[in-house]
Amino acid sequence: MKISVIGCGYVGLVSGFCFADSGHKVTCIDNNDQKIGLLKDNKVPIYEPGLTELLLKNVENSNLSFELNITENIKDSEIVLIAVGTPTGENGDANLTFVHQCAKEIAEFISPNTQIIIKSTVPVGTCDAVEDIIKENCVHSEFSVISNPEFLREGNAINDFINPDRIVIGADEQTDKKIMINLYKDITTEDKILFTSRRSSELIKYASNSMLAMRIIFINEIADLCEKIGADVTDIAKGIGLDKRIGPHFLEPGPGFGGSCFPKDARALIESGKKYDAPQTLLESVILGNENRKKNISKKILDKLDKQSENQIGILGVTFKAETDDMRESPSLIIIPDLQENGMNISVYDPEGEKEASKILKDVNWKKTAYEAAENVDCLVILTDWEEFKNLDLDKLKNSMKRPLIYDFRNIFDPDMMTELGFEYFSIGRG
Ligand code: UDX
Ligand code: UDX
Repeated sequence: MKISVIGCGYVGLVSGFCFADSGHKVTCIDNNDQKIGLLKDNKVPIYEPGLTELLLKNVENSNLSFELNITENIKDSEIVLIAVGTPTGENGDANLTFVHQCAKEIAEFISPNTQIIIKSTVPVGTCDAVEDIIKENCVHSEFSVISNPEFLREGNAINDFINPDRIVIGADEQTDKKIMINLYKDITTEDKILFTSRRSSELIKYASNSMLAMRIIFINEIADLCEKIGADVTDIAKGIGLDKRIGPHFLEPGPGFGGSCFPKDARALIESGKKYDAPQTLLESVILGNENRKKNISKKILDKLDKQSENQIGILGVTFKAETDDMRESPSLIIIPDLQENGMNISVYDPEGEKEASKILKDVNWKKTAYEAAENVDCLVILTDWEEFKNLDLDKLKNSMKRPLIYDFRNIFDPDMMTELGFEYFSIGRG
């Protein structure tokens, strides 16, 4: 099928490239001329493992092309997929400006029998609103609006897209369902597709992300208790995860969750609860707990230092997690300024994050390797769990540091091994 994807972000590019790779003819569209320029130059504007290979392969086989702005060319598309940003608005709910603008623009050009798929994460009722906007601006009414939220994780996006646990489709007409089965036929089997109403589909996405965010806050607060009572959070996670109803995944403590989704989606669901008088009280605590955690990280670090004589800190990893360049709501955006306000000098190394992070983090010394970031520091702080951090030459690292003090907020090393190597090693939730 011929597909136009609107929005060349993490969601739009991964969706478009994977659909192209499964044999569809895909045009990825964006209103950012720099992004489109890079893509036409066979360059991917974000870091996502495997994306460049998919780009080159599918441009080569003519399944993939790029265009600036929505034009009449989308009239040939059977499917128009909306994946523009839905950032947090002023009062915490999702800002739908871009989605609504996009709907208005496509209404001018879509041919009869076009399926409009909303892949962006949108509050309940958005598909209805988009349908109304298109009706008001389109010369015909032979189109349908379908909800198809995405569940990919940055850093693992392609694998998540082509091996989904489930595809959620919010559609009312049988014809729409047949088209969606055809869209995904070379990606997954029909038994993986859950058909429901549009509103249920929209809510499934928010409920899914909010449930995952709750797990993280829960294990982080259990980790805090473990530190106080001398228990090991790794064993707690293992012990509860053996219960099939809980499961072993998504129970790794860290410096707090970030990214473009969990914070935004939890806030949006709280606002939906207020709007429909169905308070989402648990999520209020999730947001507050997460924000407090990020604020308390720098205090944990400073408590280990003699502020009179120790003020050199090395940071390994500033993006919101490993395997991405995305800085949105990253804990480092709270932690590093807090440390600087307390007189600390900061050296930073991140395998992929410097380009994005250097636009936001000020007065930090960017280094090209982890060893350089550790040189002559009083404390080395680990904020993300890149594979290369786990494989560091620890003797070499220790010899370059002024004080062999490591605060590991991703528990990537074994405490006993680190002590034997002569480090003052602190991590989270491990006694
Ligand atoms: C975002 C949200 O984070 C996610 O919750 C939602 O499901 C999809 O949009 P992401 O892919 O990270 O996901 O978006 P982002 O990286 O912000 O990219 C959105 C793209 O849309 C940008 O490239 C932007 O230039 C483009 N865009 C935005 C348009 O092409 N037209 C617009 O009117 C607005
Ligand atoms: C998330 C959802 O997982 C995905 O399904 C949805 O489509 C988009 O939002 P993403 O934000 O890319 O994906 O990353 P994810 O791997 O879920 O991590 C989110 C945050 O939680 C990160 O800050 C990460 O460091 C943190 N996290 C995750 C933990 O602290 N512990 C964990 O066990 C897992």
